[in-house]
Amino acid sequence: MPEDLAGLPTHVAIIMDGNGRWAQQRGRPRLFGHHAGARRVREILKSCPDLGVKYLTLFAFSTENWKRTQAEVAGLMGLFRKYLEREADELFRSGVCVRFIGDRIRLDPKLVTLMDDLELRTAGNNLVHLTVALNYGGRDEVTRAAKRLAFEIEQGRLTHKDVDAETLAKFLDTRVLPDPDLVIRTSGEARISNFLLWQSAYAEYEFIDTLWPDFTAEEFARVLSEFAKRDRRFGAIRA
Ligand code: IPE
Ligand code: IPE
Ligand code: MG
Repeated sequence: MPEDLAGLPTHVAIIMDGNGRWAQQRGRPRLFGHHAGARRVREILKSCPDLGVKYLTLFAFSTENWKRTQAEVAGLMGLFRKYLEREADELFRSGVCVRFIGDRIRLDPKLVTLMDDLELRTAGNNLVHLTVALNYGGRDEVTRAAKRLAFEIEQGRLTHKDVDAETLAKFLDTRVLPDPDLVIRTSGEARISNFLLWQSAYAEYEFIDTLWPDFTAEEFARVLSEFAKRDRRFGAIRA
């Protein structure tokens, strides 16, 4: 790793918040903000290799977001479909390995097919690992993992003695990913809204006032360099 990347995070997770307010400030419908937000994704993703970010995880839709109006939910689902159709070739060609976390059961089968296809197609890529959290909730993820673990025990393939943090983590949606080093939330809200609860046990947090559609690659780089100044102790004391 080049020296100027030393201390920068390997895995950055982002709660992309503030699309609705961004649109409201312009007197436009909320969906206008979501479209502007989607355009930012491309820019932030493109900046990752130069910044040493190997894993980028983006919160796109939470298990709680179904509480929004039917029109907004439908609009967002349509946007995800369009985004995947439009970006698939470019993602593949640019070396991005794409994964999705979250429960697919409630998603439109056509969207799920696009997700499955993109995962399969980009599985051999290794420049940047992009994970999109879609119908994702931390509690839901841990609950689904516990259910699958219980099933393995019921079937006699594991016993209760096998249950430890490492084994449970193997049943999470994120099983192949390292834990996030840094979680960024835009839009000024200082909460995690059910994002990566298990995985963020020792993550650093940055809460940024900028609304997601205004979050540039320059600001992203600035936030990462702030991270590099932090002293991560993981419960130990500094030698
Ligand atoms: C984040 O922006 C995108 C999603 C949750 C899908 P919001 O839609 O939450 O925007 P605000 O928080 O209302 O401004
Ligand atoms: C979190 O943002 C979910 C995503 C960014 C996808 P929300 O806007 O849904 O979170 P709350 O409701 O403000 O906690
Ligand atoms: Mg919000």
